[in-house]
Amino acid sequence: MSTVEDLRPVPVMLGGVRGGPDTRTLRRDRWWVNPLVTVGFLTAFVVYSTWAVFQNGHYYVGASAHRDLISPFFSPCLTASCVHGARGALFITWWAISPGILVLGGPLGFRLTCYYYRKAYYRSFWQSPPACGVADGHGSYSGESRFPLILQNVHRYFFFIALAFNTILTIDAVMAFRMPGDGGIGVSLGTVVLVVNATLLWLYTASCHACRHMCGGNVNQYSHHRVRHRIWSILTPLNARHMQLAWASLTFVAVADIYVRLVASGAFHDPKIF
Ligand code: FES
Repeated sequence: MSTVEDLRPVPVMLGGVRGGPDTRTLRRDRWWVNPLVTVGFLTAFVVYSTWAVFQNGHYYVGASAHRDLISPFFSPCLTASCVHGARGALFITWWAISPGILVLGGPLGFRLTCYYYRKAYYRSFWQSPPACGVADGHGSYSGESRFPLILQNVHRYFFFIALAFNTILTIDAVMAFRMPGDGGIGVSLGTVVLVVNATLLWLYTASCHACRHMCGGNVNQYSHHRVRHRIWSILTPLNARHMQLAWASLTFVAVADIYVRLVASGAFHDPKIF
């Protein structure tokens, strides 16, 4: 709502900072909340995930607890040091530190180059610009047309790596229906956690801008490409929610790790639903 104060003329210097030399913006709303929350959330996630990966323990709940639950931070578990039952098909014998580090690269590269996350961290961490109508925190701007930011274009390739990870985490979610030594098949809270995690990751990946373009872009006449048009019509509403899916899936990856960690460490007993 406009106030008398809002209508007062604000000095603007051509070629200078928006709003004149003393202020970076004419905006009077709390535009700084969004970048501040983004910095807080992303920092918390990076600190937690780094801690969790370097813990190198409590990432798998196996037959001794009648469960088959693995943390998404450690799947696929590829090294010979992986705990029994958590091993994937490939064994890397010379890797001496946490197997979680080997898993990091794919999902991290996909998220780091994501169009939405780029906007979020350019605005919040680099202040470039921090919000619409707020002066850039830097004197110059070269965009993503040169090194190193031109490398963000690899996002479309990370999309395929993300598909591979989603498939593996979906297999983990299916395996979580196993209740070894306890009646074969069932559903526990841990099963639900891994199923929700895999579902959110698929939704986030399907809502990707690069995915929408690959499926429905570069077409002159949809009437000649009915299947692509159908896929594009399904992906478009998802794409409109990409930001929400980005945050929900990121949060739930951490929730899934915390859940498996609590059960594996014995701090919490995974309840069987049926
Ligand atoms: S644009 Fe965000 S995952 Fe592709």
